[in-house]
Amino acid sequence: MIKQKILVTGGAGFIGGNFVQYAVNKYPNYDIYNLDLLTYAGDLTKHRVIEQQENYNFIKADISNREEIMAIFKKEKIDYIVHFAAESHVDRSITDPEIFVRTNVIGTQVLLDAAREIGVKKFVHVSTDEVYGELDFDPSSFFTEETPLQPNSPYSASKASSDLLVRAYHETYGLPMNITRCSNNYGPYHFPEKLIPLTISRVLNDQKVPVYGDGNNIRDWLHVYDHCAAIDLVLHEGENGHVYNVGGHNEKTNLEVVQTIIKTLGKSEDLIEFVKDRLGHDKRYAIDPTKLERLGWAPTYTFDTGIAQTIQWYLDNKEWWEQIISGEYKNYFEKQYTLKGN
Ligand SMILES: NC(=O)c1ccc[n+]([C@@H]2O[C@H](COP(=O)([O-])OP(=O)(O)OC[C@H]3O[C@@H](n4cnc5c(N)ncnc54)[C@H](O)[C@@H]3O)[C@@H](O)[C@H]2O)c1
Repeated sequence: MIKQKILVTGGAGFIGGNFVQYAVNKYPNYDIYNLDLLTYAGDLTKHRVIEQQENYNFIKADISNREEIMAIFKKEKIDYIVHFAAESHVDRSITDPEIFVRTNVIGTQVLLDAAREIGVKKFVHVSTDEVYGELDFDPSSFFTEETPLQPNSPYSASKASSDLLVRAYHETYGLPMNITRCSNNYGPYHFPEKLIPLTISRVLNDQKVPVYGDGNNIRDWLHVYDHCAAIDLVLHEGENGHVYNVGGHNEKTNLEVVQTIIKTLGKSEDLIEFVKDRLGHDKRYAIDPTKLERLGWAPTYTFDTGIAQTIQWYLDNKEWWEQIISGEYKNYFEKQYTLKGN
C-alpha cells in the first residue's frame, strides 16, 4: 500500500508538536514529516515518546529558504501540508516585526510555491482569529468566517498576509487548500512565555505573575487536543478553498485565567502584579465555530476540565518546562516585563 506523506511545518512547537504526536499515533499508515527550524520556540525533547516510531521523520529546515524547501518537496514527494511554522508571539512582534514578515509571509509563500510545483493534494494553513482584529465587550458578537480581516499587531498582520497569499494561490493557480483560524490554545507543551504556562510556572515558584493593564481583556480558550482533532477533520473533510473558524466557546478575562490557576494551586492572589498594558492590546476575541461544527467537530474540553488537565500536566512534567525557563528565555522575560516583586 502506498503511504500518504504529510509534511507538518513547525512540528517542534506547541500546537504543531501536539499535532505531530496526534497524527503519528492515529495514522500508522501515514508518513509524518516534521519540518522545523528549531528556533527558540522549537524543542524536540517533547518527541522522545514518538521518535522511534517508523512513521515519524524529522527534517531541520527554514521555510523561508526557497532552495532548501524546493529540494525537500521534490525529494520526499509530499502529499499533504499542514502549516503551523510561524513566529507566534505578539509581544515579540511588537519589538521585532521583521522576522515575522520573513517567516510568516515569505516562508508561507515559499511553501505555497513548492506545494504548487509538485502538486500537493491539500495545503492546510493554520492561522489565527487575531487576523479579524478585536471585538467589543458585547457578548453576542463573534468572529465568523465572513468577518473582514483587520489585524492590529505586526504578528496578526503577518498572519493575515499569509492567509491572503494562500487564498490567492487557490484562486489563481487552483491550489487545493483550507485555512483554519483558531482562538487561543492551551495545553501540554505550551512554551512558558504565553499566559497560561507562564502563570503556572511562576505561581509554582512563588514568583510574581505579570498581568497586562487591568486584566479585563477577553480571550476564547481552546484546548490544543480539540484543536488537533479540528485540523484532522479539516484535512480530511474540509471543503476545498474554505476557511474554518475553530473555537471552544470558553471566554475568560486574563485576570480570571490567572485567578483560576492561583486558586487551583492553593496560592495567594498577592502574587498578581498588574503591569503596563501591551501596545495596541486587543480587547476581546470570540469565535463562532458553527461552520466547523456542521462538518462534525465539537470540543471535548470545557475551560474547567481543560485547565485542570493542563495544570496537572505541568505538575507532572516539570523537567520539560524547567529546562526551558532556565535558558535564553530568561533574558527575554527580564526585558519584556518590569516587575517590582521577585
Ligand atoms: N498558540 C496559539 O494560541 C495560537 C492561536 C492561533 C493560531 N496559532 C497559530 O498556530 C501556529 C502554531 O502556533 P504555536 O503556538 O504552536 O507556535 P510556536 O511558536 O510554539 O511554534 C512555532 C514553531 O515554528 C518553528 N519555526 C519558526 N520559524 C521557522 C522557520 N523559518 N522554518 C521552520 N520552522 C520555523 C519554531 O521552531 C517552532 O517549533 C502558528 O502559525 C500560529 O500563528 C497559534
